[in-house]
Amino acid sequence: MSRTRVAVLVSGRGSNLQALVDVLGPADAPGLIAIVISNRADAGALDRARAAGIPTAVIAADGQDAEQILAVLRQHEVRLVVLAGYLKKVPDAVVSAYRGRMLNIHPALLPAFGGAGMYGHHVHEAVLASGARLTGVTVHLVDEQFDHGTIVAQWPVPVRPGDTADSLAARVLAVEHRLLPAVVRAACRQLADGDHVRPLSGASDAFVLASCPEPTFADALVPA
Ligand code: GRF
Repeated sequence: MSRTRVAVLVSGRGSNLQALVDVLGPADAPGLIAIVISNRADAGALDRARAAGIPTAVIAADGQDAEQILAVLRQHEVRLVVLAGYLKKVPDAVVSAYRGRMLNIHPALLPAFGGAGMYGHHVHEAVLASGARLTGVTVHLVDEQFDHGTIVAQWPVPVRPGDTADSLAARVLAVEHRLLPAVVRAACRQLADGDHVRPLSGASDAFVLASCPEPTFADALVPA
């Protein structure tokens, strides 16, 4: 079975990109990262990509970027797009071309604590301010609205007494680094013989729940 060609879009340090590089690097992985695209030339994620020998492109998110992004995705024969800390809105034309084949990771349990302005520490501060006892990680399909498309998988992280935005961010990030690779591997397998990514269930053999830390529930909060 041929490996699904993946593009990863980034804006920052790229720790989630690194988790994907680690899992998709081996030759027997179900996918490979064909290109890493950043809207910022100084993103640390680009160094991680170069260190792994992965091609990179910098495309400024200036409202004129749709054609450039599509051209790069075509050039690298990309089937699956993963937003891993990409802080700009993906142009509608790109969303449309990759509908059902574009994933985003968000550091909370959507639909709570999502939307414009909800990124980085803003998310964790809002969770703490709300008094919520549970946060987590969501991987979802991308549509035209921020943090809005079909949820593919989620994993809970409890909020502990005394948590700060930093301590919560660190525990959520550790889960991101487990959940995103698990979902992307499953999505690569799905796209080998399908045309869109389907929500995962705990029963899926591709989705190893036990590999995620802090499971306080018998099952993940994923659609059946
Ligand atoms: C992560 O928390 C991700 O959920 C959010 O942006 C952050 C990116 O971190 N979308 P990194 O660049 O992968 O380290």
